[in-house]
Amino acid sequence: MTGDPGGHCLVTGVAGFIGSTLAEHLLANGDTVLGVDCFTDYYPPAVKERNLATLRRSPGFTFREASLLDADLPALLTNVDSVFHFAAQPGVRKSWGTTFATYAAHNVVATQRLLEAARTVPLRRFVYASSSSIYGDAAELPVRETTLPRPISPYGVTKLAGEHLCGLYARSFGIPAVSLRYFTVYGPRQRPDMAFSRFVRAILQDEALPVYGDGEQTRDFTFVADAVRAARSAARANLSPPWGRAYNIGGGSRVSINAIVRLLETMTKKSARIKRLPAQAGDVQHTYADTTAAQAELGYRPEYGLEAGLRAVVDWESALVAGVR
Ligand SMILES: NC(=O)c1ccc[n+]([C@@H]2O[C@H](COP(=O)([O-])OP(=O)(O)OC[C@H]3O[C@@H](n4cnc5c(N)ncnc54)[C@H](O)[C@@H]3O)[C@@H](O)[C@H]2O)c1
Repeated sequence: MTGDPGGHCLVTGVAGFIGSTLAEHLLANGDTVLGVDCFTDYYPPAVKERNLATLRRSPGFTFREASLLDADLPALLTNVDSVFHFAAQPGVRKSWGTTFATYAAHNVVATQRLLEAARTVPLRRFVYASSSSIYGDAAELPVRETTLPRPISPYGVTKLAGEHLCGLYARSFGIPAVSLRYFTVYGPRQRPDMAFSRFVRAILQDEALPVYGDGEQTRDFTFVADAVRAARSAARANLSPPWGRAYNIGGGSRVSINAIVRLLETMTKKSARIKRLPAQAGDVQHTYADTTAAQAELGYRPEYGLEAGLRAVVDWESALVAGVR
């Protein structure tokens, strides 16, 4: 907020899609950032290096390559006043089977280690990146934070476990934790496995575009610039205990996958070669956020409509496909 002195922030998962965008946003607003990431191989580490390129040139930014699973976390937190915990093993579909152990480690054990370390320093805020996937197939839409979370994927279970850990460290030790339940975040630097990046690349390169199920599933899409503004607001808003509250962060643009494909066809002036694939276990049918609480308590209001956001994705992916980025 204008006039406030900048904070000293730790961003975990700083080489990722949202973490790198968040770190740039914090620096642009006068904060200093210590970023940590261990370059997991969920997608190519070279993509993560590219995400860091601007940050590495920024005064006020320091990078530590380390894993939250074995780093000396109390040492990392020295002089930090706000923690933004965005490191995770993402992705719903890959969280079944034997890879669940990876999800449990990066999303649950790592979060608990960070919360333990947070007990050793006075923090202004501990912001945890949670997910709409904790809700599962909610009976009523738009979904409110009071809805009973019932994840339908192992990934969702680990993100909910992280939230519960934040809640219990808040209650037991006063950690000023806040969870943000993000609804499908998209934008430039989006993870290569996410629908929009895959769709745009397929259309631009005349490749088959895989759509799971009938494509009538809907998502509340949140542009990444709105997502990172919400995170900084959550760290700086004048909140009071009890800590451990969760807020829905949605973009207010709820559309079907089929509608997205049509929009992209219009934007790129090309036809998609749709390849229908069976619906995937763990994919919810609809998501739609009630963001009343985030509006009232964090001053959150999404600024980007779907068309402007999608245009930014098309421009970004076009540059990647053309090899100019
Ligand atoms: N992208 C979305 O739509 C979305 C939606 C809801 C919630 N989220 C949450 O937001 C956060 C960021 O997601 P993203 O899409 O940017 O993912 P991402 O994979 O691009 O970024 C996560 C980063 O965390 C790092 N990481 C993982 N485990 C680590 C560990 N033990 N130590 C250090 N670094 C580690 C990875 O290397 C990666 O760079 C995650 O917590 C995710 O669950 C994302």
